[in-house]
Amino acid sequence: MSRTVYVNGDFLPEEDAKVSVFDRGFLFADGVYEVTSVLGGKILDFEGHAVRLERSLGELDMGMPMSRDELLDIHRRLVTENEIEDGLIYLQITRGAADRDFAYPPEGTPQTVVLFTQTKPGLADAPMAKVGLKVITIPDLRWDRRDIKTVQLLYPSMGKMAAKAAGADDAWMIEDDMITEGTSNNAYIVKDNTIITRHLGHEILHGITRAAVLRFAAEAQMKVEERSFSLAEAQAADEAFVTSASTFVMPVVQIDGQAVGEGTPGPVAARLREIYLDESRKAAV
Ligand code: PDD
Repeated sequence: MSRTVYVNGDFLPEEDAKVSVFDRGFLFADGVYEVTSVLGGKILDFEGHAVRLERSLGELDMGMPMSRDELLDIHRRLVTENEIEDGLIYLQITRGAADRDFAYPPEGTPQTVVLFTQTKPGLADAPMAKVGLKVITIPDLRWDRRDIKTVQLLYPSMGKMAAKAAGADDAWMIEDDMITEGTSNNAYIVKDNTIITRHLGHEILHGITRAAVLRFAAEAQMKVEERSFSLAEAQAADEAFVTSASTFVMPVVQIDGQAVGEGTPGPVAARLREIYLDESRKAAV
């Protein structure tokens, strides 16, 4: 079935949804994106994603091309028209199309706005949550503004391929001997019932799932430390896991071939996954 895709004000069949070859997203990766999940036909944490989108655009001297309410209406219409029960909504905003020049195009150049959906039946019941991910580590060779959610995803993509080639599921990145994050998720370890995840800064994306999970953990009286941790500390941890809008809370059972804890998904990750899914479904719009 052909999806309905949103492009610059129009809802079109995906075959007719097109952007210019001069688009700066295509030529310069001059754009930002968001991925928001849908469960039971409702959107999870729309507000969090909208706030981060506005921040990403602002950091690149771009404005928000529409109001938050209009953006929510587009999300909702795509969910309805594409009959998304469980899935993802991808949004991308670029600086628009202009003759190729490193300098930004003149003020008033229309931005390109694209949204599409991906249906993922049973997204919340991913079998991997019962098995856990195997990760490898790679040096973090990305630029230094990873807090801006830009579409420069080649290095994370290479990381996933390196993981695949090594018989693993994903890669964690290391900078100055400390884990930064996963290729498309935030990284955590658990030691003596304390949840440890890297502090916010330019070195990682400020995950919307991360913010929610840390809030729920605190409400459940779980101990949280926001600080960096090394590969050795991660390999000696009781548990490890990642969070993202597409995987929620996902256990990690092996790092660079070494089992974490018992080598099976741990109780803290399982509990956080359950709380996150319950609370997010309740608040979904
Ligand atoms: N990735 N870190 C990186 C580098 C990411 O790309 C992502 C999200 C996250 C988690 O952020 P959030 O909890 O807001 O999804 C952390 C999305 C899912 C993607 O690129 O598909």
